[in-house]
Amino acid sequence: MKLLLLGSGGREHALAWKIAQSPKVEKLYIAPGNAGTSAIGENVDIKTTDFQSLKVFALEREIDMIVVGPEDPLVEGIFDFFKGDIMLQHIAIIGPSMKGAQLEGSKEFAKGFMERHNIPTARYKSVTTETLNEGLAFLETLSAPYVLKADGLCAGKGVLILPSLEEAQKELKEMLNGMFGQASATVVIEEFLSGIECSVFVLTDSEHYKVLPVAKDYKRIGEGDKGLNTGGMGSISPVPFANEEFMEKVRECIIEPTINGLREEGILYKGFIFLGLIKVKGEPMVIEYNVRMGDPETESVMLRIQSDIVDLFEGVYHVNLDTKTMILDPRTAACVMLVSGGYPEEYRKGYPITGFNLAETTDSLLFHAGTTVKEGRVVTDGGRVIAVCSYGDSREEALEKSYKVADLITFDKKYFRRDIGFDL
Ligand code: AMP
Ligand code: GLY
Repeated sequence: MKLLLLGSGGREHALAWKIAQSPKVEKLYIAPGNAGTSAIGENVDIKTTDFQSLKVFALEREIDMIVVGPEDPLVEGIFDFFKGDIMLQHIAIIGPSMKGAQLEGSKEFAKGFMERHNIPTARYKSVTTETLNEGLAFLETLSAPYVLKADGLCAGKGVLILPSLEEAQKELKEMLNGMFGQASATVVIEEFLSGIECSVFVLTDSEHYKVLPVAKDYKRIGEGDKGLNTGGMGSISPVPFANEEFMEKVRECIIEPTINGLREEGILYKGFIFLGLIKVKGEPMVIEYNVRMGDPETESVMLRIQSDIVDLFEGVYHVNLDTKTMILDPRTAACVMLVSGGYPEEYRKGYPITGFNLAETTDSLLFHAGTTVKEGRVVTDGGRVIAVCSYGDSREEALEKSYKVADLITFDKKYFRRDIGFDL
């Protein structure tokens, strides 16, 4: 089949790497892709939210399946756009309908959904300028720290965690006054949950589901998980505390009520569900839903799936995912992200990257996150630049291999965390 993958980050390079191994794929396109994906398939210069151009391309190249990497096209309704067009209906879209994508596109919708289906999550109140006073009063019923979330998509920046009531009340007003534009016209105030987090990924065809390998990501720029939030500085899979007993609770209390809830509400969902979970006193609770795979979790998770992922995607399209088997690699996968110095604040792009051939002699994999080709050389083109991923028989071994390669790859102002997995 001819497959089009949407996106341009490390997640998409890892997905492209996995998809390209399938004997079912005769041609893989990535829109827009990056320097890494161009070595696996053909990059296409189309934006992931330019549905009209995607339509023209899909018809011209007779695309059979579109796998959607990032959330924006899903929240903007790519699934409905293709399903609503008689010329495009036959194309399998791996991703939820626009309504389903509201699980990520609107925190208020997600909280309401969890409330309706008794899915464990933090206590909350959703407020707008009209209900500001109720919000201020709700904050007084909570204890520090205080969690404020912009309702809409903010490229991962819409969550504030504030140490005092005064700051929380002040920031709540600022958010409602447009700190994140329209995205924070509604704000979800949440009780703070204390515990250890992990990312659980589910692939569903709307009736059946498969649970992918569990991963943990490391979001802060500094070691010990301190400093500013980033898109993710590394990941590990599996996660020791997400053991069989914990995962049984996740299935029973979170995954099944989610899939059944979507069906009961008539929401078509054929794609990935990303559960951002926190373990509180042994019990899993939902911090957030995302409607795509995580980045940089995907870079570890793809290494641990042995089955043909395109076969699983076909199961999603034909609603027979229950007839497919998912075989996992028992080894540990560890990913270390090399970033541009200064990130997540100001940083420069365009530095040449060297050491690819040295790294290739080891049994690690490099997934490009922010790279491009300039005058025949691969150069830095983003905050997160390269994800170094390795297998190991233990967490220590996988990390040791990734760190060895991380040292061999060079570019100006390279930075990475040396403590991925420190809390496991
Ligand atoms: P998000 O942007 O939704 O991924 O949230 C960013 C991070 O904020 C999460 O990964 C958590 O570490 C933290 N967070 C969000 N909600 C809560 C909560 N209710 N209690 C504690 N931490 C939270
Ligand atoms: N790693 C977290 C995310 O992709 O949102």
